[in-house]
Amino acid sequence: MDRFDYHDGVLHCEEVNLEDVAAEYGTPTYVYSRDTFRTHLADLTAAFAELDPLVCYAVKTCGNLHLLHELGQAGAGADVVSGGELHRALTAGIPAERIVFAGVGKSEDELREAVTAGIGCVNVESESELELLDRVAAGAGRTVRAAIRVNPDVEGHGTPQKTTTGTRGSKFGVDLERVPGLFARAIALSHVRLVGLHMHLGSPIYSPEPYVRALTRLLDLLAKLNADGHEIELINIGGGFAADYETGLAPGWDAYAAAIVPLLKPFVANGGRVVTEPGRSIAANAGVLLTRVRYLKDAGGHRVAVVDAGMTNMIRAAFYDSFHFMWPVRPAGALVPPSRSEHPRLAGLHRYDVAGPICESSDYLARDRALPSLAEGDLICLFAAGAYGMAMASQYNSSLRPAEVLVEGADSRLIRRRDTYADLVEAELALPGTRF
Ligand code: LLP
Repeated sequence: MDRFDYHDGVLHCEEVNLEDVAAEYGTPTYVYSRDTFRTHLADLTAAFAELDPLVCYAVKTCGNLHLLHELGQAGAGADVVSGGELHRALTAGIPAERIVFAGVGKSEDELREAVTAGIGCVNVESESELELLDRVAAGAGRTVRAAIRVNPDVEGHGTPQKTTTGTRGSKFGVDLERVPGLFARAIALSHVRLVGLHMHLGSPIYSPEPYVRALTRLLDLLAKLNADGHEIELINIGGGFAADYETGLAPGWDAYAAAIVPLLKPFVANGGRVVTEPGRSIAANAGVLLTRVRYLKDAGGHRVAVVDAGMTNMIRAAFYDSFHFMWPVRPAGALVPPSRSEHPRLAGLHRYDVAGPICESSDYLARDRALPSLAEGDLICLFAAGAYGMAMASQYNSSLRPAEVLVEGADSRLIRRRDTYADLVEAELALPGTRF
C-alpha cells in the first residue's frame, strides 16, 4: 500500500499534485509520503503484534532527520551501522535505549560513542570487537548490553549476491559454531553483558522460508547456550522484508509474520524480547524520485530519453540491475498504468532507454522500457525509490544531490535542500592565498 496514485491523469502523492512539487522544488527530487511511512510502520508492527517486537528502523535505508523523527515519534527505534548514523538517530530524537548498532568494522571511537550514549544493544561481529567493546566500556565506566551477530549460513530468496550477508564465508557476523566460545569468554568480561543473538540474512528476501531456516538454527544455538548456563534475553531477526517494486512480487508482512511468530512465541512467553530491523519494506514504497526528460535522441535504433537524474541520484539500477517501475507524471493519452509491472500490455507504448547525465556507460535508470510516448520536458516518476535512493546518492561528476520533500495530506515541505556548488567544495581547504 502506498499513497502515490493518479487522479485526473496526473500522479499525486497523498493530495499533492507532483507536477506542482516539481515546479516548486525543481528536479531531480525525492518525494516521501508521511502517511505511507507511518502506515508501513504500523502495519508491520501489527503483523508481529504477538511478539510485541521493538522495531528498529534501519537508518541506512533513508536517513533524513525528519523521517527518522516521524518514525521515532511513532514508536520506532533505530538500527545504525556507523557513528554517523548513531548521530542521526540521536539528533532525530530517537531514545538511545531503542538504538541497536551493527557493523563489521566499528571503530573504537564509534564504540565509545555508543556506550556513552547508552544505546540498547551493540551487535558484535567478531571476537576482537567483543574484547574492544569491554575495554571501551570499562574506560567509560559503563556496562553495555551486547548481542552476537550470528552468521546462520542461510541463503536469501531472490536476494542479489551483492546484498547477501548470511552465508558462510561472508564478512558479516560470527560462524554458528564459534558463538558458544564468545559467550564463554564474555563471562570474564566485566563491562559487557552478552545477552542476545542477532542475524541479518540479506536484503531483500522474497520469501519467509529463509527466516524459518535461520531462526531454527538460532533457536538450536540458544538451547545450547541455555544448557551452558547463558541467559538469552534478546533475539534480533534483522531486516530484509521485501518491498513492492513490481506489483504482486513481495510477500506482505503478514506472510513473514505467519512463519516467524510461531517460532519465537515460546521465547517471548519466557520473557524474551524480539527486535527487528526493517528498512526497505518501510521506506521503499513511501518515496519516489521525480526526474525530467532533458533530451530525446536516437542512438543506433534505440530511443533514448536522457533525464536529469542519474546513477549519482539513484544508483540501484546501475549497481544491482534493480528494476524500478517508471511512468510519466502526466502520461500522454492519460494512460494510467494498471499495475507497477515491467511490461504492461497496453497499446500505444514505446520502448525507451532511460539514461542519466553522468559520464558512465552504466548510467541508466532503465533499458528497453515500455512507456507512454515521451516529450522533452516531461516529468517521469521512478517509483519505490524511498529505500537506498537518496541514502546512496553521491557527488560523482560533481553532481548535486537532490532535494527531498515530505508530503503530508495536501501540504508539501522541503526536508533537505538540493546541494549547491558551494556544498561541493565546502570541505576542501582554500587554495593557498585565497578564500572561496
Ligand atoms: N539490518 C542490518 C544489519 C542491515 O545490514 C540491513 C541492510 C538492514 C537491517 C535493513 O535491511 P532491509 O530491511 O532494508 O532489507 N543498498 C542495497 C541494500 C543493502 C542492505 C544493507 N543492509 C540496495 O539498494 O538494495
